[in-house]
Amino acid sequence: MELIDAIYGRRAVRDYTDQAVDRSVIDALIDAAVQAPTALDEQPWVFAVIQGKGLLQDYSDRAKTHFLATFNPGSDPHSMRRDLLMNPGFNLFYNAGTLLVVYARPNRHFAPVDCCLAAQNLMLAAHARGLGTCPVGFAQSWLDLPEIKTELRVSQDYSAVIPLILGYPARMPGAVPRKMPEVIFSA
Ligand SMILES: Cc1cc2nc3c(=O)[nH]c(=O)nc-3n(C[C@H](O)[C@H](O)[C@H](O)COP(=O)(O)O)c2cc1C
Repeated sequence: MELIDAIYGRRAVRDYTDQAVDRSVIDALIDAAVQAPTALDEQPWVFAVIQGKGLLQDYSDRAKTHFLATFNPGSDPHSMRRDLLMNPGFNLFYNAGTLLVVYARPNRHFAPVDCCLAAQNLMLAAHARGLGTCPVGFAQSWLDLPEIKTELRVSQDYSAVIPLILGYPARMPGAVPRKMPEVIFSA
């Protein structure tokens, strides 16, 4: 696939088949991810891979419970999000079989930026291989909890930057129209 086609064709996929993603495919996607540039060549990323639809359903339930317990309407204007998360039928991970969390190592100023660049590489590479992905910001704070990092065998020093679900799309959504970006050319 041409790079430009991957850029324009990638979508946030929210419906997956039961086909599991092989370890070799995940390894190849992580290899594509780490081709991203990093500040001072720090390569500050760590990838946690969690597989199994049943496990991810359980994680979704627990992350939703956490979110609802800590939801602060004063600081979070998105009450729509609370309504969605209160729906017991809503799976944060959309029944995907694989969750890949990009964690950042500590004390690297640009680590979150570097990790997001890697995540975008991974999503484009996945699309080029016929896989779908979706970032799941909803789950980020839960995946950063000390007890969850312990459960995932992730160092307490690492910070969850961006969770991504991964799988074979059951359905590709249509493109979301882009707003006209503000572009400022200096004279
Ligand atoms: C940082 C970030 C967090 C996101 N979190 C969620 C999420 O929790 N749940 C979800 O369904 N989509 C999530 N998305 C996907 C966006 O909704 C999606 O990218 C956007 O609507 C544009 O659609 P497209 O990716 O198909 O172009 C997230 C995207 C980003 C970049």
